[in-house]
Amino acid sequence: MSRRRRIYEGKGKVLYEGPEPGTLIQFFKDDATAFNAKKHDVIEGKGVLNNRISEFIFEHLNRIGIPTHFIRRVNMREQLIKEVEIIPLEIVVRNVAAGSLAKRLGIDEGTMLPRSIIEFYYKSDELDDPMVSEEHITAFGWANPQEIDDIMALAIRVNDFLTGLFMGVGIQLVDFKIECGRLYEGDMMRIVVADEISPDNCRLWDIETQDKLDKDRYRRDMGGLVDAYQEVARRLGIVNGNE
Ligand code: C5P
Repeated sequence: MSRRRRIYEGKGKVLYEGPEPGTLIQFFKDDATAFNAKKHDVIEGKGVLNNRISEFIFEHLNRIGIPTHFIRRVNMREQLIKEVEIIPLEIVVRNVAAGSLAKRLGIDEGTMLPRSIIEFYYKSDELDDPMVSEEHITAFGWANPQEIDDIMALAIRVNDFLTGLFMGVGIQLVDFKIECGRLYEGDMMRIVVADEISPDNCRLWDIETQDKLDKDRYRRDMGGLVDAYQEVARRLGIVNGNE
């Protein structure tokens, strides 16, 4: 069925060769996974919503000068992106205690953190994405100290932007994960935000009701995932059309 060469298939997305050198097509699947794919389901409509929400966020990031891999959405499930060399780290930014931090440090979920905290995890399915420090990252050569500084600066800027964006529509940004890549342009290289930003990799709580509008609905068997993602899209003013 595929018209293009498949470059990579991950848990939630497929990357195909793009129309021009240096570009790729990122396809959003309906697959939902949690606990490193130990739990797996197909949730109809999720891929379309994540494509739209991620497009909305990356377009805004590009517009305010935060560099990303995003070029444009091409249809309901696909976007055109710049090919980057993915840095094998998951960068998590936390504003409120939840999930693994709440568990690891014995802090009640919902406790405001004294300041935003950035954590690094090594991207490895076999190892369940272990948490790593800057020491590990530089010692094993996953990124150099300058790149770590650039990644942290990007993460903080993304956090500031997303916190305000969601606050404006009655949603608290609890935490989120980004991935970064090296974009080579001529003999220049810069670090850009890659992958996706959607309710699959953010924790989003309704400010009034504390309802969870993110993937915890799936991880915690709460149901209503598509409704929650649709609600996020609706509040952001993303039309639910079929173009
Ligand atoms: O599970 P944990 O509390 O460490 O997750 C922190 C944030 O990172 C959450 O918003 C979660 O959705 C995101 N995350 C992710 N992909 C992972 C691990 C965490 O998107 N593999």
